[in-house]
Amino acid sequence: MKLLDDFINSLDKNKDNLMDTLHFCQESFGYISEENKDYIAKSLDVKVSKIDEILNFYSYFKTKKDKENKIIICSGALCQKKGSEKLTKELENLNKNNDFYIENSRCIGACGMGPIVVLNDKPYPKVEVKDLSNILKTE
Ligand code: FES
Repeated sequence: MKLLDDFINSLDKNKDNLMDTLHFCQESFGYISEENKDYIAKSLDVKVSKIDEILNFYSYFKTKKDKENKIIICSGALCQKKGSEKLTKELENLNKNNDFYIENSRCIGACGMGPIVVLNDKPYPKVEVKDLSNILKTE
């Protein structure tokens, strides 16, 4: 929030700074989170509904992070039997900052390699809980 706060404090208070602030937020964080949206509304004394109108109108503005760090955990029957639920729980623990999108999928057709985790299209076979933090560090 400090980055955004510093930017807002540097603005000329006599101007309408909403668009500049939204652009700054988009460029700095890659999207405009609910938290940042509320903060901008409060800081610039504008209604959240006005910001929502702008965000809905301009497709340039994103309200969610791009799904560039996506982890798929196969939760097909064989991978479940080999421990995929434990992997999901551990990944959720390791993902406290929501740096990764975690998704469970049906069988992805590599049952012999299960339990299988796919990080940004790269498959990791026979994954154990202890392997997960190293896998995440590869990104
Ligand atoms: S059940 Fe996981 S790959 Fe088939």
